[in-house]
Amino acid sequence: MNPSDNNDKIKDNLIEVKVVNPGHRFSMDLFDSEGNLILQAHTPISQGVINHLKSSGIQYLYFDPSKKGAAESVPAQKNILSDELRNETYLHTKNLFEEIRNTFASSPGDSISRGTIDKSRTLVDKIISDTEKNGDGVFDVVAKLKDMDDYYYQHSMNVAILASILGSRLDFKSDIKSAMGVGGLFHDIGYSSVSKDILHKAQLNDSEFDIIKSHTHVGYKFVEKNPRLHEIEKRIILLHHERGDGEGYPYGFDLDMYQNNVPREVRLLGLIDVFVIHTMPKPGEAGVTPGGAMRLMVNMIQAQYKTKYSFIPADVRDFLRALGFIINKGESFLKPGDLVRISTGEIGIIEEMNRLYPLNPKVRILKNSRMETLKRPIVLDLIKTYNEYVSNVYDRNPDGKYTISSRNNAT
Ligand SMILES: [Fe+2]
Ligand SMILES: [Fe+2]
Repeated sequence: MNPSDNNDKIKDNLIEVKVVNPGHRFSMDLFDSEGNLILQAHTPISQGVINHLKSSGIQYLYFDPSKKGAAESVPAQKNILSDELRNETYLHTKNLFEEIRNTFASSPGDSISRGTIDKSRTLVDKIISDTEKNGDGVFDVVAKLKDMDDYYYQHSMNVAILASILGSRLDFKSDIKSAMGVGGLFHDIGYSSVSKDILHKAQLNDSEFDIIKSHTHVGYKFVEKNPRLHEIEKRIILLHHERGDGEGYPYGFDLDMYQNNVPREVRLLGLIDVFVIHTMPKPGEAGVTPGGAMRLMVNMIQAQYKTKYSFIPADVRDFLRALGFIINKGESFLKPGDLVRISTGEIGIIEEMNRLYPLNPKVRILKNSRMETLKRPIVLDLIKTYNEYVSNVYDRNPDGKYTISSRNNAT
């Protein structure tokens, strides 16, 4: 169907479900009449979602009329990964998790089998060459989940794909590119030792949460002596939840230890993990748009201004440079007009984006670091002062007030 045919049916802030076909994308988030997010902007709607809407008797989807413009049907963008390869990756990840859960149950002293490691490496090589060919494509994390087991398969699959792409985009050597992808597939294998009762529970008490956290070192013990795995892959399994603010695990490193003892590749995989966690919610939880997730991640660089860094700015910069456009439908997640705080403590409005370095735009400074309003705003080009960067992004609330978005769970 031509997108314009569909636009005729979009009026009065609503869209009729019966005119929507699989693969359609819209320029705005779509909600049901209760306000539940049904489809994120620019995400293709699947047959499964359409069936679900029809079987639930939902006839209309609504978009937020407070946002400018109407929700238009937009042309599909090329996916960076073919559907066939995505399906193959999904099936492989599912088999992998099932095999490892069986091994944990029957012979916990064993490790991942040689055949499974070889297959994983071949698959990651295919992902790398496929995505290197489709340089300007986009990647959707959004998935239709069958159940909680499926959540973990799809989570690991998405992390593996993004890690493979990031390795290529940052020109890592070929063995390291492969280690990023395979490490992505394996990073959460420790969950296979956790009972499904706990894994599927919505609210966890402290001791249950400790069991969840054990997935890092239990997973590591499982692969520690396996000669077929790269050292980076083993470190990814052990250290992907470490942060620079002392609140990560299993060790709770401080910034120095994080910077020096967690390899850059592992820190970057940790960032990808956080992005996927935010954009692919568990069944029944609310998700965040890709752009929203990246804003949150920027705000996590400095969890507390000037004292604690969850992430190292250079890593966030690398993550955004490698994946920013791919995961946000070819668009920048920051825009001229956004209110930001820069690392010097000054506050201003973005005037012009720097395409490859979104943390280094031109900013019109309105307030100095003592929060005094400047009589004459000055414009700083942060690409020229590379060590200064956007360290916080403000979201404008419906009441017109600005807040720094944060989300501490799931990190
Ligand atoms: Fe994890
Ligand atoms: Fe994970």
